[in-house]
Amino acid sequence: MTVRAIGYGTSLPEKILTNDDLAEMMDTNDEWIRARAGIGARHVGGVTSEMATEAGAAALKDADLSPADIDLIVLCTSTPDQRLPATSAVVQANLGLTCGAFDVNAVCAGFTYGYVTAYGLMNAPTGPDRVLLIGADALSPIMDWTDRGTAILFGDGAAAVVLEKHEQGELLAFDFGADGNLQPILYCDHDGFITMEGREVFKKAVRAVTQSVENVLRKAEIEPGEIDVVLPHQANIRIIEAVAQRIGIPMERNVTVLETTGNTSGASIPLAMAKAADDGLLEPGKLVLMAGFGAGMAWASAVVRW
Ligand code: COA
Repeated sequence: MTVRAIGYGTSLPEKILTNDDLAEMMDTNDEWIRARAGIGARHVGGVTSEMATEAGAAALKDADLSPADIDLIVLCTSTPDQRLPATSAVVQANLGLTCGAFDVNAVCAGFTYGYVTAYGLMNAPTGPDRVLLIGADALSPIMDWTDRGTAILFGDGAAAVVLEKHEQGELLAFDFGADGNLQPILYCDHDGFITMEGREVFKKAVRAVTQSVENVLRKAEIEPGEIDVVLPHQANIRIIEAVAQRIGIPMERNVTVLETTGNTSGASIPLAMAKAADDGLLEPGKLVLMAGFGAGMAWASAVVRW
């Protein structure tokens, strides 16, 4: 049994902070941010459960389903509304669902971890027939708005996909990794702000993602040139370019949204996925690569024959 995507939905808060807005708050400028990160604006003021609910409702509508058709919610987030309950339970109630619900926290690698988890559960005995898989993060509340090393990069957002058991949509291989020794270069304490050594994260990310993608392609017995669509984590356009170049996948096959969203952590890959679907890139049979990385550090790659 395999698993296909049958509906997509997104949610971005109304309030937009452009680079010029940031330049009024700190010593930075539009030219520097675009050149060093590829970001022009980000959405702020989001609440994880609200964005996840909006994205989930839109995905259900897109799939032409009612809440009763969903058997499980998996919410990928590192910014839950509360320590407990899991924010997925709040989303479940908001959407009027009665199914099981749990959160996955692997930060910016979360959606790929969540996709593989959902896929595995759907293929388990008595597993769910349809899963609402959501990535949602509200990073603006944990931003130090005086730190130009982090505030320029992150934003809020959510995106959801409805997964359904079907003969189309085979997960060919996945690769999970983590190195908890790297916790000091990117972390956020309870009631604190995101703290990051940007240059170190950049170097480690390029190395880890390149290695992980090489692993997953080898496991799937696929050459880089065969990949049709890459859904990379949207942290910095230069990281996406560096990995694409090292792996040997043309940059044009990478779907990006970060110019208008910044890094939305768990939402970034599904936002790219929703854009790819909108653009008609996710035709049945296409080879799709997801590659996420983030605090942990944790990383995850997956190859799906759509
Ligand atoms: N605006 C203007 N100038 C800035 C700036 C900003 N926002 N931030 C740093 N600078 C300056 C620095 O002071 C430094 O000046 P100097 O050369 O006079 O000392 C210069 O720009 C270069 O700084 P550096 O920190 O080396 O920049 P960088 O090229 O490494 O870019 C990041 C900084 C944060 C954009 C980059 O390191 C990055 O994206 N890292 C990965 C972060 C990430 O992806 N995190 C999430 C993982 S999920």
